[in-house]
Amino acid sequence: MVRIIRWLEKQKVPLDSSVLDIGTGNGVLLIELAKNGFTNLTGIDYSPSAIQLSEKVREKEGMSNIKLLVEDFLAPSAELLGFQICIDKGTFDAVSLNPDNAVGKRKQYVRSLCSVLKPEGFFLITSCNWTKEELLNEFREGFEIVEELPTPKFCFGGRIGNSVTALVFQRKGDMENRFLH
Ligand SMILES: C[S@@+](CC[C@H](N)C(=O)[O-])C[C@H]1O[C@@H](n2cnc3c(N)ncnc32)[C@H](O)[C@@H]1O
Repeated sequence: MVRIIRWLEKQKVPLDSSVLDIGTGNGVLLIELAKNGFTNLTGIDYSPSAIQLSEKVREKEGMSNIKLLVEDFLAPSAELLGFQICIDKGTFDAVSLNPDNAVGKRKQYVRSLCSVLKPEGFFLITSCNWTKEELLNEFREGFEIVEELPTPKFCFGGRIGNSVTALVFQRKGDMENRFLH
């Protein structure tokens, strides 16, 4: 969370940018963003109990301006449109683990992302499942890598690796996306 917020601050992303947290869970990332001054925050989760929990956290923290919606990101409603920043912490991983047509669901995830994120908007993904190379491949159509965020490293058998991958992508402009879909 700290690295995501630090990156947004470093880029001087305006505090009123529209931010979508995909699969918000308990909504704590949105609370931290609000505490750091961000004012246009939306969280979605397809689990009604996750949204109920995040509503309780929002109430406890007195952050009533955070918008929380029950939404399946793989079938986003027309309301989810034009975000400047999309953040995913663990949700693409969850989608990828779905035993029922995971490949198709991953493709749908990328399509959904293209429909909710503005051209040239930023997508920040944190994954415990996928390496940098794998994520670059998943998001190769429509997205360009901007930066890899530092994550803890470990050493095993003389080789150094990361247990978490955190990348920032930028959605290509409309002209570059014209061959997509
Ligand atoms: C590993 S949890 C991460 C939660 C939160 N982002 C965090 O960092 O604590 C994944 C979340 O994604 C949600 N999720 C999985 N598939 C989803 C989908 N298709 N649409 C919306 N939410 C989804 C789950 O309900 C769960 O809350």
